[in-house]
Amino acid sequence: MNATLATNTPPSPTSVPAAALGSVSLVGAGPGAKDLLTLRAVEALAHADVVYYDSLVDDDVLDFVPDAAACVFVGKRKGFSAMPQQDIQDHMRNDALAGKTVVRLKGGDPFIFGRGGEELQDLHGYGFSVDVVPGVTSATAAAAVAGIPLTHRDVATSVTFATGHTTNGDVPDLTGLALSDRTFVFYMGISNAPKIASQLRHSGAPGTTPVAVIEQATLPGQRIINSTIDALEADLRTQNIGMPALLIVGEVTALGVPKSDSLIPLAPSPEPANDFAWVHHPMG
Ligand SMILES: C[S@@+](CC[C@H](N)C(=O)[O-])C[C@H]1O[C@@H](n2cnc3c(N)ncnc32)[C@H](O)[C@@H]1O
Repeated sequence: MNATLATNTPPSPTSVPAAALGSVSLVGAGPGAKDLLTLRAVEALAHADVVYYDSLVDDDVLDFVPDAAACVFVGKRKGFSAMPQQDIQDHMRNDALAGKTVVRLKGGDPFIFGRGGEELQDLHGYGFSVDVVPGVTSATAAAAVAGIPLTHRDVATSVTFATGHTTNGDVPDLTGLALSDRTFVFYMGISNAPKIASQLRHSGAPGTTPVAVIEQATLPGQRIINSTIDALEADLRTQNIGMPALLIVGEVTALGVPKSDSLIPLAPSPEPANDFAWVHHPMG
């Protein structure tokens, strides 16, 4: 891979013969762990001339990119964007017009809170067809590592993926979305957790409702913290939860990884951060 930024001098679309046009793929990188990349994503990376990647992609994932390709970091770190959204779109379009095979690599799934829709619309607006490669979204990955079934016939007949941080920095209006029989997963919800807890209570959820906080799911720094709606704010503070992290709210979280020491581990998992393979120890 080559980390140099491609130049952004736009060839005029009309001056480029169709045969010279490259291609653009929006590729989901999954929640972080390299082995949660799909085979289709690996294939797209292996054929890329240039990869624009964001900060939730574990750098190991870039091992699949050929040495001759350019890898350009365009994500956010410490609240600052490496490249404005419009510039990312301009670069991708111009590279494709210059005949390059462009991969836009995004954390999780490109169409779940990942601005994949905006990039798709922009590219479609310029007449490009775009290949979209789905990825394992962090909600399902986090639930899996925590052993939390997001749906369960007895306690959750639906699951809602919500942002915890809308474009105006607020939480979405949850009025009418009763928690009974439902699981909520909040992306980007840590800084607004007190507001989310208050909205949930306002919608009638008991303060004792269990909440799981999963930090860095599938990554080496993975942590799973069990809390409740009422205790969430204090628990986030005392546990010093970092990013990225998700909140899973609902009765299903009580079914997650047991804390009891009456459990014994199965054979070690081949990968780190996968410590949920437990069986019940026969008591007495
Ligand atoms: C901008 S959204 C992108 C979501 C992504 N498109 C997906 O499908 O997972 C970023 C948020 O996803 C969640 N997230 C992403 N990766 C995560 C991980 N490995 N562990 C926990 N949460 C994660 C966090 O809530 C983070 O703030």
